[in-house]
Amino acid sequence: MNLTTEEYKKQERKIKLQIDALYREHERELGVLAYEPHEVQKKVLYLPNRIKCMFTGNRVGKSYHMSREICMLAIGEHPVYSEKYGGHIPVPCRLWVSSLDFAGVRDITMPLILGGLPQSMIADVRIADRIVKLTNGSIIGFKSNDSGWQKYQGTSMHAIWLDEEHDFEVFNECKMRLIDTDGIMLISATPTKGMTWMFTELYEQKDTGNIDVGVVEGSMDDNPYLSEDSINEMMAGLSEQEIQIRRYGKFVELQGLIFPNYKTDVHVIDDFDVSKDWKRVLAVDLHLQKPTAVLWVAFDRDGTWYIYRAMKVGGDGSTIRDIAKNIRIQTGAEKIEYGLIEAATLKDHQNIFGVDVLQEMAKEGVYLLKGTRDVETGIHLVRELLGNPQDTLGGSPRLKILKSAAFNGDSEKRSLDWEFKHFRYARPKGDVNAYSEKIYKHDDDFIDCIKTIALSNPNFAHRPKVKRINKPLDRVTGY
Ligand SMILES: Nc1ncnc2c1ncn2[C@@H]1O[C@H](COP(=O)(O)OP(=O)(O)OP(=O)(O)O)[C@@H](O)[C@H]1O
Ligand SMILES: [Mg+2]
Repeated sequence: MNLTTEEYKKQERKIKLQIDALYREHERELGVLAYEPHEVQKKVLYLPNRIKCMFTGNRVGKSYHMSREICMLAIGEHPVYSEKYGGHIPVPCRLWVSSLDFAGVRDITMPLILGGLPQSMIADVRIADRIVKLTNGSIIGFKSNDSGWQKYQGTSMHAIWLDEEHDFEVFNECKMRLIDTDGIMLISATPTKGMTWMFTELYEQKDTGNIDVGVVEGSMDDNPYLSEDSINEMMAGLSEQEIQIRRYGKFVELQGLIFPNYKTDVHVIDDFDVSKDWKRVLAVDLHLQKPTAVLWVAFDRDGTWYIYRAMKVGGDGSTIRDIAKNIRIQTGAEKIEYGLIEAATLKDHQNIFGVDVLQEMAKEGVYLLKGTRDVETGIHLVRELLGNPQDTLGGSPRLKILKSAAFNGDSEKRSLDWEFKHFRYARPKGDVNAYSEKIYKHDDDFIDCIKTIALSNPNFAHRPKVKRINKPLDRVTGY
Protein backbone atom coordinates (compact mmCIF):
# COMPACT_ATOMS: atom_id res chain seq x y z
CA MET A 1 0.00 0.00 0.00
CA ASN A 2 1.38 3.30 -1.08
CA LEU A 3 0.70 6.17 1.27
CA THR A 4 1.03 9.77 0.33
CA THR A 5 3.29 11.79 2.59
CA GLU A 6 0.24 13.46 4.04
CA GLU A 7 -1.44 10.13 4.84
CA TYR A 8 1.76 8.72 6.27
CA LYS A 9 2.13 11.65 8.66
CA LYS A 10 -1.48 11.26 9.75
CA GLN A 11 -0.95 7.57 10.49
CA GLU A 12 2.23 8.30 12.37
CA ARG A 13 0.49 10.90 14.54
CA LYS A 14 -2.31 8.46 15.33
CA ILE A 15 0.08 5.73 16.42
CA LYS A 16 2.05 8.19 18.53
CA LEU A 17 -1.11 9.29 20.31
CA GLN A 18 -2.04 5.68 20.95
CA ILE A 19 1.40 4.94 22.39
CA ASP A 20 1.19 8.06 24.57
CA ALA A 21 -2.23 7.02 25.85
CA LEU A 22 -1.00 3.51 26.60
CA TYR A 23 2.04 4.90 28.34
CA ARG A 24 -0.08 7.27 30.44
CA GLU A 25 -2.41 4.43 31.31
CA HIS A 26 0.59 2.36 32.31
CA GLU A 27 1.97 5.19 34.42
CA ARG A 28 -1.40 5.66 36.09
CA GLU A 29 -1.42 2.00 36.87
CA LEU A 30 2.09 2.10 38.26
CA GLY A 31 1.46 5.30 40.23
CA VAL A 32 4.16 5.68 42.82
CA LEU A 33 6.07 2.71 41.38
CA ALA A 34 7.04 4.99 38.50
CA TYR A 35 8.14 7.80 40.83
CA GLU A 36 11.50 9.33 40.08
CA PRO A 37 12.51 11.54 43.00
CA HIS A 38 14.97 14.36 42.40
CA GLU A 39 18.05 14.76 44.62
CA VAL A 40 16.40 16.59 47.54
CA GLN A 41 13.44 14.22 47.47
CA LYS A 42 15.81 11.25 47.51
CA LYS A 43 17.46 12.61 50.65
CA VAL A 44 14.07 12.81 52.35
CA LEU A 45 13.03 9.34 51.19
CA TYR A 46 16.03 7.64 52.78
CA LEU A 47 16.01 9.51 56.09
CA PRO A 48 15.69 6.86 58.80
CA ASN A 49 14.00 9.09 61.42
CA ARG A 50 10.55 8.82 62.97
CA ILE A 51 9.78 12.47 62.25
CA LYS A 52 10.90 13.50 58.78
CA CYS A 53 10.81 17.12 57.77
CA MET A 54 11.20 18.61 54.34
CA PHE A 55 11.69 22.31 54.96
CA THR A 56 12.18 23.97 51.60
CA GLY A 57 11.11 26.90 49.46
CA ASN A 58 7.89 26.79 47.47
CA ARG A 59 7.45 24.53 44.44
CA VAL A 60 10.38 22.31 45.36
CA GLY A 61 8.19 19.21 45.22
CA LYS A 62 7.41 18.83 48.93
CA SER A 63 3.78 17.82 48.59
CA TYR A 64 4.47 15.66 45.58
CA HIS A 65 7.20 13.80 47.45
CA MET A 66 5.40 13.25 50.75
CA SER A 67 2.32 12.03 48.89
CA ARG A 68 4.57 9.43 47.24
CA GLU A 69 5.91 8.26 50.60
CA ILE A 70 2.35 7.84 51.92
CA CYS A 71 1.44 5.81 48.84
CA MET A 72 4.55 3.63 49.30
CA LEU A 73 3.55 2.95 52.90
CA ALA A 74 -0.05 2.18 51.89
CA ILE A 75 1.01 -0.48 49.40
CA GLY A 76 3.92 -1.76 51.51
CA GLU A 77 6.63 -0.59 49.12
CA HIS A 78 8.45 1.96 51.26
CA PRO A 79 12.20 1.27 50.96
CA VAL A 80 12.92 2.26 54.58
CA TYR A 81 9.82 1.61 56.64
CA SER A 82 7.85 -1.21 54.98
CA GLU A 83 8.17 -4.68 56.49
CA LYS A 84 9.00 -6.08 53.08
CA TYR A 85 12.27 -4.12 53.18
CA GLY A 86 13.12 -4.79 56.81
CA GLY A 87 11.16 -1.90 58.27
CA HIS A 88 8.41 -2.00 60.88
CA ILE A 89 5.32 -0.59 59.13
CA PRO A 90 2.94 -3.43 58.19
CA VAL A 91 0.37 -3.80 55.45
CA PRO A 92 -2.48 -3.10 55.78
CA CYS A 93 -1.83 0.16 57.63
CA ARG A 94 -3.74 3.23 58.77
CA LEU A 95 -2.55 6.56 57.45
CA TRP A 96 -3.58 10.18 57.76
CA VAL A 97 -2.92 13.00 55.35
CA SER A 98 -3.56 16.48 56.63
CA SER A 99 -3.81 19.88 54.95
CA LEU A 100 -4.32 23.29 56.51
CA ASP A 101 -7.96 23.31 55.38
CA PHE A 102 -10.35 21.11 53.44
CA ALA A 103 -9.77 23.13 50.27
CA GLY A 104 -6.17 21.92 50.54
CA VAL A 105 -7.40 18.33 50.86
CA ARG A 106 -9.68 18.70 47.85
CA ASP A 107 -7.22 20.52 45.59
CA ILE A 108 -3.81 19.26 46.67
CA THR A 109 -3.40 16.28 48.96
CA MET A 110 -6.27 14.06 47.84
CA PRO A 111 -5.52 14.38 44.09
CA LEU A 112 -1.83 13.72 44.80
CA ILE A 113 -2.64 10.56 46.75
CA LEU A 114 -5.17 9.33 44.19
CA GLY A 115 -2.62 9.94 41.44
CA GLY A 116 0.13 8.18 43.37
CA LEU A 117 -1.70 4.95 44.16
CA PRO A 118 -1.60 2.22 41.54
CA GLN A 119 -5.12 2.59 40.13
CA SER A 120 -6.04 -1.07 40.40
CA MET A 121 -5.31 -0.98 44.13
CA ILE A 122 -7.91 1.70 44.88
CA ALA A 123 -10.92 -0.12 46.30
CA ASP A 124 -13.11 2.75 47.43
CA VAL A 125 -12.97 6.53 47.43
CA ARG A 126 -15.40 8.17 49.85
CA ILE A 127 -15.22 11.86 49.12
CA ALA A 128 -17.73 12.84 51.83
CA ASP A 129 -15.98 10.82 54.56
CA ARG A 130 -12.58 11.79 53.15
CA ILE A 131 -11.35 8.21 53.14
CA VAL A 132 -9.56 6.16 50.52
CA LYS A 133 -9.52 2.38 50.94
CA LEU A 134 -7.10 0.09 49.18
CA THR A 135 -7.63 -3.46 48.00
CA ASN A 136 -4.96 -4.60 50.48
CA GLY A 137 -6.97 -3.18 53.40
CA SER A 138 -4.89 -0.04 54.02
CA ILE A 139 -6.90 3.07 54.77
CA ILE A 140 -5.93 6.69 54.13
CA GLY A 141 -7.93 9.37 55.94
CA PHE A 142 -7.78 13.09 55.19
CA LYS A 143 -7.75 15.75 57.91
CA SER A 144 -7.72 19.50 58.22
CA ASN A 145 -5.79 21.69 60.68
CA ASP A 146 -8.64 24.21 60.52
CA SER A 147 -11.01 21.84 62.26
CA GLY A 148 -8.88 21.89 65.43
CA TRP A 149 -6.64 19.47 67.32
CA GLN A 150 -9.59 17.64 68.91
CA LYS A 151 -10.35 16.15 65.50
CA TYR A 152 -7.00 14.39 65.64
CA GLN A 153 -7.91 12.33 68.68
CA GLY A 154 -8.83 8.68 68.31
CA THR A 155 -7.18 5.56 67.07
CA SER A 156 -3.52 4.86 66.56
CA MET A 157 -1.97 5.47 63.17
CA HIS A 158 1.06 4.09 61.35
CA ALA A 159 1.99 7.33 59.60
CA ILE A 160 0.74 10.88 59.42
CA TRP A 161 1.70 13.48 56.85
CA LEU A 162 1.20 17.15 57.66
CA ASP A 163 1.37 19.29 54.54
CA GLU A 164 2.48 22.83 55.50
CA GLU A 165 2.83 24.18 59.04
CA HIS A 166 0.07 22.96 61.34
CA ASP A 167 -0.75 24.17 64.85
CA PHE A 168 1.59 22.94 67.58
CA GLU A 169 -1.37 21.30 69.35
CA VAL A 170 -2.18 19.32 66.21
CA PHE A 171 1.44 18.19 65.91
CA ASN A 172 1.42 17.04 69.53
CA GLU A 173 -1.87 15.21 69.14
CA CYS A 174 -0.54 13.47 66.03
CA LYS A 175 2.54 12.34 67.97
CA MET A 176 0.17 10.66 70.44
CA ARG A 177 -1.52 8.76 67.61
CA LEU A 178 1.84 7.31 66.56
CA ILE A 179 3.09 6.06 69.93
CA ASP A 180 1.50 2.58 69.83
CA THR A 181 2.83 1.73 66.38
CA ASP A 182 6.16 3.53 66.64
CA GLY A 183 4.77 5.33 63.62
CA ILE A 184 6.14 7.90 61.20
CA MET A 185 5.40 11.60 60.94
CA LEU A 186 6.06 13.34 57.65
CA ILE A 187 6.11 17.13 57.56
CA SER A 188 6.48 19.18 54.40
CA ALA A 189 6.54 22.94 54.83
CA THR A 190 7.84 26.25 53.62
CA PRO A 191 8.51 28.18 56.85
CA THR A 192 6.30 31.14 56.01
CA LYS A 193 5.52 31.87 59.66
CA GLY A 194 9.15 32.24 60.66
CA MET A 195 10.63 30.74 63.78
CA THR A 196 7.62 29.13 65.35
CA TRP A 197 7.42 25.71 67.06
CA MET A 198 8.59 24.12 63.82
CA PHE A 199 11.91 25.88 64.26
CA THR A 200 12.46 25.11 67.92
CA GLU A 201 10.93 21.63 68.11
CA LEU A 202 12.16 20.31 64.78
CA TYR A 203 14.64 22.39 62.81
CA GLU A 204 16.85 23.10 65.81
CA GLN A 205 16.86 19.41 66.72
CA LYS A 206 18.69 18.47 63.57
CA ASP A 207 22.22 18.83 64.93
CA THR A 208 21.54 17.88 68.51
CA GLY A 209 21.77 14.15 68.03
CA ASN A 210 18.01 13.75 68.48
CA ILE A 211 17.49 10.63 66.41
CA ASP A 212 13.75 11.12 66.21
CA VAL A 213 13.99 14.12 63.94
CA GLY A 214 15.44 14.30 60.44
CA VAL A 215 15.45 17.49 58.40
CA VAL A 216 16.17 18.08 54.72
CA GLU A 217 16.37 21.61 53.34
CA GLY A 218 16.19 22.72 49.75
CA SER A 219 15.52 25.61 47.43
CA MET A 220 13.44 26.10 44.31
CA ASP A 221 16.57 25.73 42.25
CA ASP A 222 16.76 22.08 43.33
CA ASN A 223 13.57 21.15 41.45
CA PRO A 224 14.60 20.10 37.91
CA TYR A 225 10.92 20.18 36.92
CA LEU A 226 10.89 23.95 37.43
CA SER A 227 12.34 26.31 34.80
CA GLU A 228 14.55 29.25 35.68
CA ASP A 229 12.07 31.60 34.00
CA SER A 230 9.22 30.44 36.16
CA ILE A 231 11.39 30.86 39.27
CA ASN A 232 12.24 34.44 38.27
CA GLU A 233 8.61 35.12 37.58
CA MET A 234 7.60 33.91 41.04
CA MET A 235 10.33 35.95 42.73
CA ALA A 236 9.44 39.22 41.02
CA GLY A 237 8.26 41.86 43.47
CA LEU A 238 9.04 39.86 46.61
CA SER A 239 10.98 41.39 49.50
CA GLU A 240 14.43 40.00 50.34
CA GLN A 241 12.91 38.34 53.39
CA GLU A 242 10.20 36.65 51.35
CA ILE A 243 12.78 35.45 48.85
CA GLN A 244 14.74 33.86 51.71
CA ILE A 245 11.62 32.01 52.76
CA ARG A 246 9.93 31.20 49.47
CA ARG A 247 12.92 30.48 47.27
CA TYR A 248 15.39 29.08 49.78
CA GLY A 249 13.06 27.78 52.49
CA LYS A 250 14.88 29.62 55.28
CA PHE A 251 13.51 30.21 58.75
CA VAL A 252 13.81 33.96 59.11
CA GLU A 253 13.05 36.14 62.06
CA LEU A 254 15.41 37.61 64.65
CA GLN A 255 13.77 41.04 64.52
CA GLY A 256 10.86 39.43 66.34
CA LEU A 257 13.03 38.63 69.35
CA ILE A 258 11.95 40.32 72.55
CA PHE A 259 15.46 40.36 74.02
CA PRO A 260 17.79 40.83 71.04
CA ASN A 261 20.26 42.38 73.46
CA TYR A 262 20.77 39.09 75.29
CA LYS A 263 24.15 37.62 74.41
CA THR A 264 25.48 34.46 76.01
CA ASP A 265 29.06 35.71 75.99
CA VAL A 266 28.07 38.98 77.67
CA HIS A 267 25.51 37.82 80.21
CA VAL A 268 26.70 34.35 81.16
CA ILE A 269 29.74 34.24 83.42
CA ASP A 270 31.75 31.51 85.11
CA ASP A 271 30.44 30.15 88.37
CA PHE A 272 31.80 31.66 91.59
CA ASP A 273 30.86 31.54 95.27
CA VAL A 274 28.31 34.23 95.81
CA SER A 275 29.22 36.44 98.79
CA LYS A 276 27.28 35.73 101.98
CA ASP A 277 26.69 39.46 102.40
CA TRP A 278 24.77 39.87 99.17
CA LYS A 279 21.00 40.03 99.47
CA ARG A 280 19.09 37.18 97.87
CA VAL A 281 15.61 36.79 96.39
CA LEU A 282 13.86 33.89 94.75
CA ALA A 283 10.85 33.55 92.44
CA VAL A 284 8.62 30.64 91.50
CA ASP A 285 6.60 30.14 88.32
CA LEU A 286 4.30 27.37 89.45
CA HIS A 287 2.90 24.71 87.14
CA LEU A 288 1.49 21.33 87.88
CA GLN A 289 1.13 19.90 84.37
CA LYS A 290 4.67 20.85 83.37
CA PRO A 291 7.80 21.59 85.43
CA THR A 292 7.78 24.55 87.79
CA ALA A 293 10.56 27.09 87.29
CA VAL A 294 12.45 28.48 90.28
CA LEU A 295 15.12 31.15 90.13
CA TRP A 296 17.51 32.52 92.78
CA VAL A 297 19.08 35.96 92.41
CA ALA A 298 21.80 37.66 94.48
CA PHE A 299 22.51 41.40 94.32
CA ASP A 300 25.97 42.85 94.74
CA ARG A 301 26.68 46.21 96.37
CA ASP A 302 26.20 48.04 93.05
CA GLY A 303 22.81 46.47 92.54
CA THR A 304 23.97 44.11 89.79
CA TRP A 305 21.85 40.99 89.54
CA TYR A 306 23.49 37.56 89.67
CA ILE A 307 21.19 34.69 88.82
CA TYR A 308 23.07 31.98 90.66
CA ARG A 309 20.65 29.11 90.58
CA ALA A 310 17.81 28.02 88.28
CA MET A 311 15.75 24.89 88.68
CA LYS A 312 12.90 23.13 86.91
CA VAL A 313 11.09 20.75 89.18
CA GLY A 314 7.94 18.60 89.18
CA GLY A 315 5.40 18.41 86.37
CA ASP A 316 5.34 14.65 86.82
CA GLY A 317 2.50 14.42 89.27
CA SER A 318 4.38 16.10 92.12
CA THR A 319 2.34 17.99 94.67
CA ILE A 320 2.88 21.59 95.68
CA ARG A 321 4.55 20.34 98.87
CA ASP A 322 6.96 18.17 96.83
CA ILE A 323 7.93 21.25 94.85
CA ALA A 324 8.31 23.31 98.03
CA LYS A 325 10.51 20.64 99.59
CA ASN A 326 12.81 20.80 96.58
CA ILE A 327 13.03 24.57 96.84
CA ARG A 328 13.90 24.31 100.53
CA ILE A 329 16.58 21.69 99.93
CA GLN A 330 18.18 23.71 97.14
CA THR A 331 18.11 26.90 99.19
CA GLY A 332 19.78 25.20 102.14
CA ALA A 333 21.09 27.64 104.72
CA GLU A 334 21.03 30.65 102.40
CA LYS A 335 19.25 33.67 103.79
CA ILE A 336 16.53 34.74 101.35
CA GLU A 337 15.13 38.27 101.77
CA TYR A 338 11.85 37.32 100.13
CA GLY A 339 10.39 34.78 97.73
CA LEU A 340 7.80 35.63 95.07
CA ILE A 341 5.14 33.78 93.18
CA GLU A 342 3.16 35.33 90.37
CA ALA A 343 -0.35 36.19 91.51
CA ALA A 344 -2.01 35.15 88.25
CA THR A 345 -0.57 31.66 88.52
CA LEU A 346 -1.68 31.50 92.09
CA LYS A 347 -5.28 32.18 91.30
CA ASP A 348 -5.41 29.47 88.63
CA HIS A 349 -3.93 26.82 90.83
CA GLN A 350 -6.06 27.76 93.75
CA ASN A 351 -9.13 27.36 91.61
CA ILE A 352 -8.06 24.10 90.06
CA PHE A 353 -6.72 22.30 93.09
CA GLY A 354 -8.74 23.92 95.77
CA VAL A 355 -5.73 24.39 98.03
CA ASP A 356 -4.04 27.51 99.24
CA VAL A 357 -0.71 27.42 97.46
CA LEU A 358 0.97 29.85 99.86
CA GLN A 359 -0.05 27.76 102.86
CA GLU A 360 1.06 24.50 101.26
CA MET A 361 4.45 26.02 100.46
CA ALA A 362 4.74 27.45 103.98
CA LYS A 363 4.18 23.99 105.47
CA GLU A 364 7.51 23.04 103.91
CA GLY A 365 9.22 26.20 105.09
CA VAL A 366 8.98 28.11 101.83
CA TYR A 367 7.36 31.47 102.49
CA LEU A 368 6.24 33.27 99.36
CA LEU A 369 4.64 36.62 98.62
CA LYS A 370 2.31 37.31 95.75
CA GLY A 371 4.14 39.08 92.94
CA THR A 372 2.61 41.46 90.45
CA ARG A 373 1.86 40.56 86.87
CA ASP A 374 2.43 43.23 84.26
CA VAL A 375 3.83 41.72 81.11
CA GLU A 376 4.81 44.89 79.27
CA THR A 377 6.48 46.60 82.20
CA GLY A 378 8.19 43.36 83.15
CA ILE A 379 9.69 43.02 79.66
CA HIS A 380 10.80 46.63 79.73
CA LEU A 381 12.56 46.18 83.06
CA VAL A 382 14.35 43.02 81.96
CA ARG A 383 15.49 44.74 78.76
CA GLU A 384 16.98 47.53 80.87
CA LEU A 385 18.76 45.01 83.07
CA LEU A 386 20.30 43.33 80.04
CA GLY A 387 21.60 46.68 78.83
CA ASN A 388 22.82 47.22 75.32
CA PRO A 389 26.25 45.60 74.82
CA GLN A 390 26.84 47.80 71.76
CA ASP A 391 26.25 50.94 73.75
CA THR A 392 29.24 51.95 75.86
CA LEU A 393 27.45 54.87 77.50
CA GLY A 394 25.36 53.64 80.38
CA GLY A 395 24.17 50.56 78.56
CA SER A 396 26.26 48.04 80.43
CA PRO A 397 24.38 44.96 81.62
CA ARG A 398 23.19 44.83 85.21
CA LEU A 399 22.18 41.20 84.98
CA LYS A 400 24.63 38.31 84.98
CA ILE A 401 23.89 34.61 84.96
CA LEU A 402 26.20 32.00 86.41
CA LYS A 403 26.96 29.28 83.90
CA SER A 404 25.42 26.50 85.96
CA ALA A 405 22.16 28.47 86.17
CA ALA A 406 22.12 29.47 82.50
CA PHE A 407 22.42 25.97 81.07
CA ASN A 408 20.51 23.88 83.56
CA GLY A 409 17.90 22.42 81.18
CA ASP A 410 17.66 19.61 78.70
CA SER A 411 15.42 19.51 75.66
CA GLU A 412 12.38 18.75 77.81
CA LYS A 413 13.16 21.38 80.39
CA ARG A 414 14.41 24.42 78.52
CA SER A 415 17.33 26.31 79.99
CA LEU A 416 17.35 29.98 80.90
CA ASP A 417 19.86 30.72 78.13
CA TRP A 418 17.52 29.02 75.65
CA GLU A 419 14.54 31.02 76.86
CA PHE A 420 16.31 34.34 76.38
CA LYS A 421 17.27 33.43 72.82
CA HIS A 422 13.79 32.22 71.86
CA PHE A 423 11.38 34.57 73.61
CA ARG A 424 9.64 36.39 70.77
CA TYR A 425 6.63 38.23 69.50
CA ALA A 426 4.05 36.33 67.49
CA ARG A 427 3.41 37.05 63.85
CA PRO A 428 -0.13 37.86 62.84
CA LYS A 429 -1.53 34.88 60.92
CA GLY A 430 -0.20 34.60 57.40
CA ASP A 431 1.84 37.80 57.45
CA VAL A 432 5.55 37.14 56.97
CA ASN A 433 6.73 40.67 57.57
CA ALA A 434 4.66 41.94 60.45
CA TYR A 435 4.91 41.33 64.17
CA SER A 436 2.11 41.71 66.61
CA GLU A 437 2.51 42.96 70.14
CA LYS A 438 1.34 39.56 71.30
CA ILE A 439 3.95 37.34 72.84
CA TYR A 440 4.50 33.96 71.33
CA LYS A 441 3.85 31.89 74.44
CA HIS A 442 6.33 29.10 74.54
CA ASP A 443 8.62 28.08 77.37
CA ASP A 444 9.29 31.36 79.08
CA ASP A 445 8.96 30.26 82.70
CA PHE A 446 12.37 31.44 83.92
CA ILE A 447 11.83 34.77 82.21
CA ASP A 448 8.50 35.03 84.03
CA CYS A 449 10.44 34.59 87.28
CA ILE A 450 12.87 37.38 86.35
CA LYS A 451 9.98 39.67 85.42
CA THR A 452 8.26 39.00 88.73
CA ILE A 453 11.42 39.87 90.66
CA ALA A 454 12.03 42.98 88.54
CA LEU A 455 8.47 44.16 89.20
CA SER A 456 9.07 43.85 92.94
CA ASN A 457 11.67 46.59 92.50
CA PRO A 458 14.49 45.01 94.51
CA ASN A 459 16.71 47.84 95.58
CA PHE A 460 19.70 46.44 97.43
CA ALA A 461 22.39 48.69 95.99
CA HIS A 462 24.48 50.57 98.53
CA ARG A 463 24.29 54.24 97.75
CA PRO A 464 27.79 55.53 97.02
CA LYS A 465 28.85 58.10 99.63
CA VAL A 466 29.34 61.53 98.08
CA LYS A 467 32.53 63.15 99.31
CA ARG A 468 32.23 66.70 100.57
CA ILE A 469 34.63 69.02 98.78
CA ASN A 470 35.79 71.78 101.08
CA LYS A 471 38.57 73.09 98.95
CA PRO A 472 37.51 76.13 96.85
CA LEU A 473 37.45 75.39 93.09
CA ASP A 474 40.31 76.57 90.92
CA ARG A 475 39.05 79.42 88.74
CA VAL A 476 40.88 78.23 85.64
CA THR A 477 40.47 74.48 85.71
CA GLY A 478 37.11 74.38 87.47
CA TYR A 479 38.15 71.61 89.87
N1 LIG B 1 9.83 13.89 41.28
C1 LIG B 1 8.96 14.58 40.54
N2 LIG B 1 8.51 14.09 39.39
C2 LIG B 1 7.66 14.80 38.62
N3 LIG B 1 7.17 16.01 38.94
C3 LIG B 1 7.56 16.54 40.09
C4 LIG B 1 8.45 15.86 40.98
N4 LIG B 1 8.67 16.64 42.04
C5 LIG B 1 7.94 17.73 41.87
N5 LIG B 1 7.27 17.70 40.68
C6 LIG B 1 6.40 18.75 40.16
O1 LIG B 1 6.89 20.00 40.65
C7 LIG B 1 5.79 20.88 40.95
C8 LIG B 1 5.88 21.34 42.38
O2 LIG B 1 5.64 20.25 43.23
P1 LIG B 1 4.84 20.37 44.60
O3 LIG B 1 3.50 20.96 44.39
O4 LIG B 1 4.93 19.06 45.26
O5 LIG B 1 5.76 21.43 45.32
P2 LIG B 1 5.60 22.08 46.76
O6 LIG B 1 6.98 22.24 47.26
O7 LIG B 1 4.65 21.31 47.57
O8 LIG B 1 5.01 23.50 46.37
P3 LIG B 1 4.15 24.55 47.27
O9 LIG B 1 5.17 25.36 47.97
O10 LIG B 1 3.39 25.31 46.26
O11 LIG B 1 3.30 23.74 48.20
C9 LIG B 1 4.52 20.10 40.67
O12 LIG B 1 4.05 20.48 39.40
C10 LIG B 1 4.97 18.65 40.69
O13 LIG B 1 4.17 17.87 39.84
MG1 LIG C 1 2.84 21.86 48.55
